[in-house]
Amino acid sequence: MKSTISNKDLYSGIEFSTWLDLQKLWPQEEYLIKKYLNPQLGIVEAGVNGGRILLNMQELGFTNLAGFDYVPALIAEAIERNPDRTVDFQVQDAIELTYPDNSLDQIVYLQQIICLIEDRASRLRAVRESYRILKLGGIGLFSALSFESRNSSVIYSVYFKYLKLLRKIRGNDLSIQHLPWLKLGGKFNFNALLDRPPYTYWYRVTEIYELLKSVGFEIVGMGSDPQIKADRLQATDRELCAEEISGMLYIVVRKR
Ligand SMILES: C[S@@+](CC[C@H](N)C(=O)[O-])C[C@H]1O[C@@H](n2cnc3c(N)ncnc32)[C@H](O)[C@@H]1O
Repeated sequence: MKSTISNKDLYSGIEFSTWLDLQKLWPQEEYLIKKYLNPQLGIVEAGVNGGRILLNMQELGFTNLAGFDYVPALIAEAIERNPDRTVDFQVQDAIELTYPDNSLDQIVYLQQIICLIEDRASRLRAVRESYRILKLGGIGLFSALSFESRNSSVIYSVYFKYLKLLRKIRGNDLSIQHLPWLKLGGKFNFNALLDRPPYTYWYRVTEIYELLKSVGFEIVGMGSDPQIKADRLQATDRELCAEEISGMLYIVVRKR
């Protein structure tokens, strides 16, 4: 897929401060971290931005913390926010990590980092890398943009029909799960109406379930906002698809 501007360019530019301005953990993140992760064990977070999640985890009693982001200026911000240098922040790209095989107790891939990777092969590479660095028996938290959730909204389903038509007219066979950014720098992105890249990738439940299983992960549980609210993640994609799906998809995995 050819794109003059990449998602990395957005995070280095117009989206640079969007996540830096956030401070607290989201309720969904807090739920998953408290329920599934062990503060006594080490953590690596992918796509740390300014370190919001890791610095909050430190407040929750986690001590062995590391994380990476592919934007050097964001890592510089994260380091500045951690004056005691208690967190090992590094510039790395999720598709090719320098952490050794089986070296990390727990991994956090929240806020849809995999969906920000533009092409299918690189998304698979990133998921394979996450599996490679995790220790046997280690737990991982993933989240993904949910196509089913977005498609259930009338406004978005109309937009999707418009995009499909536009792509057909242009002879562009890109899947409708690749969507342009609707907001950039806090403002409506008019390029979304022109179907201009870069895109984020919106997963179907079964697709992310199969992707994570295909690299060797065992699925501990998966859900969206209603399942998290009910404190009842589902064990399989089929069970989740039988319920209401709203918001992001959250998947807890274990390395077998
Ligand atoms: C949606 S933001 C989330 C930031 C942070 N995890 C949080 O929740 O506050 C996604 C972050 O992932 C980073 N990112 C996206 N793709 C990446 C990749 N392939 N490797 C490393 N970082 C990546 C971006 O630079 C950005 O900082």
